[in-house]
Amino acid sequence: MRKPIIIGNWKMNMQIADGLVFLNDLEKESYNIDVGIACQAISLIPMKEQAKKVLIGAQNTNDELNGAYTGELSVDLLKEAELDFCLVGHSERRQYYNESDETVNKKIKLLLEKQITPVVCVGESLEQYENKQTKEVIEKQIELALQDVDVKNCVIAYEPIWAIGTGKTATPEIAQSVCRLIRKKIASLTSVEIANKVRIQYGGSVNPENIKELMACEDIDGALVGGASLKINDFKKLISY
Ligand code: 13P
Repeated sequence: MRKPIIIGNWKMNMQIADGLVFLNDLEKESYNIDVGIACQAISLIPMKEQAKKVLIGAQNTNDELNGAYTGELSVDLLKEAELDFCLVGHSERRQYYNESDETVNKKIKLLLEKQITPVVCVGESLEQYENKQTKEVIEKQIELALQDVDVKNCVIAYEPIWAIGTGKTATPEIAQSVCRLIRKKIASLTSVEIANKVRIQYGGSVNPENIKELMACEDIDGALVGGASLKINDFKKLISY
């Protein structure tokens, strides 16, 4: 039985004080799923210090341990801040900062060494989706990202780029079929037993109205939520789907 995991990705939004108020509100309730927030770097320490139940994670880290990489954030500091997880390979990072499958793979390995859960994001573009390349693109991203990686300690997030921030959610059928494909690919790289343990999230215009249907899908174990995680009432509705 896989424990559901819903993570709010605040991206480059939310001031520190507002984030702490939000977290305080979130912590008033109890959940039988994992709930997480990925916030901006400067908010990570106060958020983690205040969090009792909610998992706190970074949105990115560097693929080197330390050195002359101005402006970057090391896995060692994430560890020192006792963070629970870190997003890796979000499509916005792949798209705007040229992140490759190779750097994604390096980051995952560094995070696992420090016992921080990598939330590995994969997803195809609109063009690839329309050209029916989804299977090929996703399988390749999974294979390269997870090379020599202990995948049972990772969370995978399937986020079709065409559904991010566009209001166009993948139908539960599409989301389920790609999440199924990801699980099959992981099984072929490891074993069915391991693949059945890995939690796979869907992300892309998830909201309080569509969460229930998505979470009812066999291979969807959670959600990675952008816009709807910025409003406390929406996010609370989401996590109590
Ligand atoms: P939206 O929920 O705003 O579409 O964003 C999804 C996302 O990118 C989460 O990482």
